[in-house]
Amino acid sequence: MNKVREFRKERGLSQDALAQEVFISRKYLSMIERQLATPSISIAMRIGNALGVSVDKVFIDKTENISVNYPTPVRFIDLFCGIGGFRYAAKDAFDSLGLKGECVFSSDIDKYAQQSYKANFGEKPYGDIKKIDAADIPDFDILFGGFPCQAFSICGLQKGFEDNTRGTLFFDIARIIKEKQPQAFVLENVKNLASHDNGNTLKTILDVLRDELGYHVDHHLLNALDFGLPQKRERIIIIGSKNPFVMNWDFNVETKKTLNDILEKEVDKKHFASPEIVSKRKSMHTAKEYPSIWHENKSGNISSYPYSCALRAGASYNYLLVNGERRLTPREMLRLQGFPDSFKIVVSDCQTRKQAGNAIPVDMVSKVIERFMPLAF
Ligand SMILES: C[S@@+](CC[C@H](N)C(=O)[O-])C[C@H]1O[C@@H](n2cnc3c(N)ncnc32)[C@H](O)[C@@H]1O
Repeated sequence: MNKVREFRKERGLSQDALAQEVFISRKYLSMIERQLATPSISIAMRIGNALGVSVDKVFIDKTENISVNYPTPVRFIDLFCGIGGFRYAAKDAFDSLGLKGECVFSSDIDKYAQQSYKANFGEKPYGDIKKIDAADIPDFDILFGGFPCQAFSICGLQKGFEDNTRGTLFFDIARIIKEKQPQAFVLENVKNLASHDNGNTLKTILDVLRDELGYHVDHHLLNALDFGLPQKRERIIIIGSKNPFVMNWDFNVETKKTLNDILEKEVDKKHFASPEIVSKRKSMHTAKEYPSIWHENKSGNISSYPYSCALRAGASYNYLLVNGERRLTPREMLRLQGFPDSFKIVVSDCQTRKQAGNAIPVDMVSKVIERFMPLAF
């Protein structure tokens, strides 16, 4: 039951006035109000904006959430698991919803990521997902995965996902969903996924999930900075469920961690850049804030911010420098991604840098999972 009519009347708006503001016909608005039509997500968002209320207040009946029928435990799989960012995010989200979760399968091809995962979660992830038969994966309710972005073959277009995504890691996600039919999934990818291959990569992914696998799907670009982490990290999140849903992507996170909360007080001298690099940086740039993270872009220009630019797995050694003087420590990098200090670091600094750079911002993804679960189940 949506509450469009209720909110419209409260605001003294006629059907004509609201329809005009939302760029739909009065007839269609009337059908929405009489619960005879379900608007697309973008129309729902426009209606929410025009009424000055968040879309979930208009379209999501809270009483429905109370009776959500969650499986117990909620079984999930952690694909391309890295060091378990999704696993932490799921735990935080499930804890806030009072749910019990159980990871029934994890996979990552990288032996150092496997070592870190084992040390922290007690199980060694399976290796190359391409070699795993989907039928051998235990049944699960929700799939999590942050997968590398690769171009699809054009020659396969129109022939279905088995032809046009074969050889990519998204193909493996799709074939697992097809075989196991989970209730829902949450996928993560880099911002560039939207522009990759002129938008064809994202379009193919969404088409496959919707048209071939039959899920209701939505996606959005989110920034870790808006979720209280001092890191500018923009990522596309794709969510899907067998249930139709309207996701509200406006998150109002008030508790923010600052660089002061993240930075270690005592730092080993091995993390400091050479005096030559420090003096070169300082001759090029003066920071307006302290502490700050100095960022060197591809052309060698330096800028500084009271937060970090996105950690990157393959970035050059001095690409980010705290106060223009030293590199981030492994623990600081993990904190920038929202990993708790209880996370055990069992690999070299170099591997931890790569792992933290590959990981997801836990605080951001946990909020998405927490809001999505009542809609998805
Ligand atoms: C972007 S990272 C995901 C990191 C993870 N979400 C986290 O929070 O740590 C992608 C991961 O996919 C893994 N990967 C790449 N190819 C793979 C394959 N064929 N099978 C399994 N894992 C693979 C990489 O080793 C890497 O850890």
